Amino acid sequence: MEFHEAVRSRQSIREFKPDPVAPEVLLRLLEAFRAAPSWANVQPWELILVQDPELRRRLQQTLSPGNPATKAVAEAPVLVAAVGIAGRSGWYKGESVTARGDAWMLFDLGIACEHLALAAAAEGLGTVHAGYFDFAKAGEILGVPAGRSVVELIPVGWPARLPRRVERKPLAELVSLDRHGNPFPLPAAPSGSGERPPSRDGGPLSAAR
Ligand SMILES: Cc1cc2nc3c(=O)[nH]c(=O)nc-3n(C[C@H](O)[C@H](O)[C@H](O)COP(=O)(O)O)c2cc1C
Repeated sequence: MEFHEAVRSRQSIREFKPDPVAPEVLLRLLEAFRAAPSWANVQPWELILVQDPELRRRLQQTLSPGNPATKAVAEAPVLVAAVGIAGRSGWYKGESVTARGDAWMLFDLGIACEHLALAAAAEGLGTVHAGYFDFAKAGEILGVPAGRSVVELIPVGWPARLPRRVERKPLAELVSLDRHGNPFPLPAAPSGSGERPPSRDGGPLSAAR
């Protein structure tokens, strides 16, 4: 699939067919994750593929009440747990070199997880980034050692159905020229460009449908 098509087609999928994901397809997703850039190429990450149904069930219980990804964590044919390693991204000789501390580790994981999600979309697979869970408990369940933490759970599989798309702010609301808030003269979007108008905030899970 062409890159922009994959970007446009990706949307959060939380209901999956039971059909398995072939190992060579899964490998392409993992390679996409591995190819991601990171702070000074420190690659502050590891992945755990969680297959054991009992572990899946226990992980499910770490999700915050009402989290719409709950079912997917147990039922998706593949569950990827993305683990971040602290003290690397944004660090030099044992010291954090920016005021953002380990936030750079989360930033790096975000890039890599989205690489995986876009690679999945290019295969016609669905994913959802699930971040609203008790990461300390998830780490215990998966035997993640100190200095590392589970950053995201990513259910992966063939979509059972495509949900209604959630909207996006128009570019004019987020792009400035030279100084914050100074309008950038945007060319008119071609019709059918897939632009999404804004969604409204209704709480931590409002857009998660
Ligand atoms: C860092 C991050 C954490 C997220 N956590 C959850 C989550 O815990 N549960 C869930 O159902 N969706 C979660 N989502 C999915 C978002 O709700 C979704 O990406 C957003 O509403 C936009 O919808 P779309 O992905 O369909 O374009 C998360 C997304 C991101 C990027």
